[in-house]
Formats: sequence, structure tokens, C-alpha cells
Amino acid sequence: MWPIAEVRMESRPQAGHTEGGSRRGTQDRAAAAAAAAAVRERPSPCDLRRSSAIPGPSSPSEVGGRLRTMARAGMERWRDRLALVTGASGGIGAAVARALVQQGLKVVGCARTVGNIEELAAECKSAGYPGTLIPYRCDLSNEEDILSMFSAVRSQHSGVDICINNAGLARPDTLLSGSTSGWKDMFNVNVLALSICTREAYQSMKERNVDDGHIININSMSGHRVLPQSAVHFYSATKYAVTALTEGLRQELREAQTHIRATCISPGLVETHFAFKLHDQDPEKAAATYEHIKCLKPEDVAEAVIYVLSTPQRVQIGDIQMRPTEQVS
Ligand SMILES: NC(=O)c1ccc[n+]([C@@H]2O[C@H](COP(=O)([O-])OP(=O)(O)OC[C@H]3O[C@@H](n4cnc5c(N)ncnc54)[C@H](OP(=O)(O)O)[C@@H]3O)[C@@H](O)[C@H]2O)c1
Repeated sequence: MWPIAEVRMESRPQAGHTEGGSRRGTQDRAAAAAAAAAVRERPSPCDLRRSSAIPGPSSPSEVGGRLRTMARAGMERWRDRLALVTGASGGIGAAVARALVQQGLKVVGCARTVGNIEELAAECKSAGYPGTLIPYRCDLSNEEDILSMFSAVRSQHSGVDICINNAGLARPDTLLSGSTSGWKDMFNVNVLALSICTREAYQSMKERNVDDGHIININSMSGHRVLPQSAVHFYSATKYAVTALTEGLRQELREAQTHIRATCISPGLVETHFAFKLHDQDPEKAAATYEHIKCLKPEDVAEAVIYVLSTPQRVQIGDIQMRPTEQVS
């Protein structure tokens, strides 16, 4: 798989810049081994499932292997810097937050269900990860909540260096008979909150002369093709917007002559609580979503985030499209 190939490539010391990891190799391997041992003793922090119908998390040995892979060269320059991860209370966001804390970053994880993030923060701490997770309660459908969060980050931690726009949802409101409120729920979080967080993160970088920041949008394969499933047509439109917003952002960042990078990651089916929110009236249908193929795990997406962040600053990944091998569409 490509991330492994990249790990091999990146692990060679590189002349002329400080992104190579040879200095920290031994220390990182020790930290990864300690973290993997801790994970073996505890349930995965990504396992913030509210339904036993969702397939189980990665096995401890699989997670341990991933942790070793993720303690990687290229992430050195991010150590102690601040990443905002939206939607960190479960699924992909929790996996991304954990992976970043494991790489030594200070992570502000936000969502409405802040208790889940507090649990994850405690787990990261007892696992001995070098970074910290700071839980923040925020309803992203409310602009004032978002602005308060950014001003709290500014006053308590200086500002945001990495913004991972992950929070998102789908409601089964079709184009012919769906409710306007369902459309608004999707639009407010998937498109508007992502855009507000992007703007605020950029302003935070600009006011501190941060020229190497990164904004990563968790998009979807639904941002690239329209499935013949009426329940997800509006959702798909919000994700097409994310495709356009990411490329538009890349262009504006170039016009502004910064080296801040813009990336989106577009997964296919990932085992999370997502389908249970989409089909909240029909849990069996939700469970079936994850049963017909071997889905991606949240950790797979987290690994892609780490890869994107770990590339040399001259490299800008525009989009990573990643489907489960068995997924047809
Ligand atoms: N699962 C998949 O198959 C899949 C595939 C492709 C792309 N994606 C994308 O991946 C991202 C993460 O989804 P997931 O699969 O991890 O789903 P998930 O398990 O349902 O997690 C969604 C996250 O978004 C947060 N969120 C939703 N509405 C929010 C609001 N108003 N304010 C604050 N936070 C809010 C949730 O937190 P609270 O509810 O606690 O607020 C939760 O942390 C989404 O953008 C989704 O579109 C998912």
C-alpha cells in the first residue's frame, strides 16, 4: 500500500532540510512501542461506538503496527504545534486526533459530545503519547460557537497551525421530498462550518506569520461521483462543494503567496457511526452498510492525514481518493 512505500522513502535522511527523522528514530520507535503496549491494554479510543452493530475496531496488534508506521519521519516539524480537529468525538476525527497526539502535537478536538473527547484525551495521556488532546465543546452549526473556539485557542494557545475539517453528517433527505431542515443540517456543518473554520484558521496563521500551515478537508468519494441512492444526493452535493472549496483554497493561498497547503482526503466507506446517524430510523439498514464489504477503518484515514502532513513542504497533495478494495462504486 502506498503509505508504507512512502514511509520507506521518507525514512532516508534528507540533506538540506530538517524533515528527516534519523535523529529521533530511536526515540520515536521507543515511544511507538510504549504506545502500542498501552493500546494493547486498553480499548481503542476510536471505539467510541454507540451501537454494537458496528463492526469492531482494529485488533490491538493491527493498531500497534499502525502506530509504528505513524511514528514517522517528516512529522518532526509539527511537534508541539497546534492542530484543530473538528468532529473529534468519534469515528475518523477521533482516530485523526489520536494519531496527531501520538506524533507529539497539541490537538484541540471539538464536537458537541465533548465527553467522548475527554475520554480519548485521558486515554492518550495514560498511553504516554507525547502530545496532548484538549477537548472543546462546539456546535459547528453555530458560527458564534466556532468564533468563540478560535478566540479561546488564540488566548490560551496562540493559534492554529493545522486545521482538519473532519466533522460532517448525512441526513436521508432526498431532492424530491426531503426536508429543508435536513438539507440545512448538512450544509451548515459540511460546507459552512468547514469554510468558517478554514477562514479563521488562515487568519490565525497569517496574524502569527505562520507560512507552513496546512488545512485538510475530510471529503468523500461522494464528492467525486453521484451514487444512484436518493438518500445521499444532497450529502453528495455538499461533498462536491468540499472538492471545489479545497481547490479554490489552494488557488487563493497561491495568490496570497503563502506556503500554507490545502488538501482533501476522499474516503469510500469507513466503519464509523456515520450510517447510524444517516439511517437513525432504521438501525438494521445502518448496520448492513458496514456488513457487505470489508470497509476502511478510521485509522486508515488517519494514516493518510499523517502522510499528507509528513511530506516535504514543497509537496502539496491535492486529494487522496481511497476506497475499500472491495468497494465497487
Ligand atoms: N464513514 C464514512 O463512510 C465516510 C466516508 C467518506 C467520508 N466521510 C466523512 O468523514 C467525516 C467524519 O465522519 P465519520 O464517518 O467519522 O462520522 P461520525 O462517526 O458520525 O462522526 C462525525 C463527527 O462529526 C461531528 N459533528 C457532526 N455535527 C456536528 C456539529 N453540529 N457540531 C460539531 N461536531 C459535529 C460529530 O460530533 P458530535 O455529534 O459529538 O457533535 C462527530 O464527531 C465526515 O465529514 C464524513 O462526511 C465518512
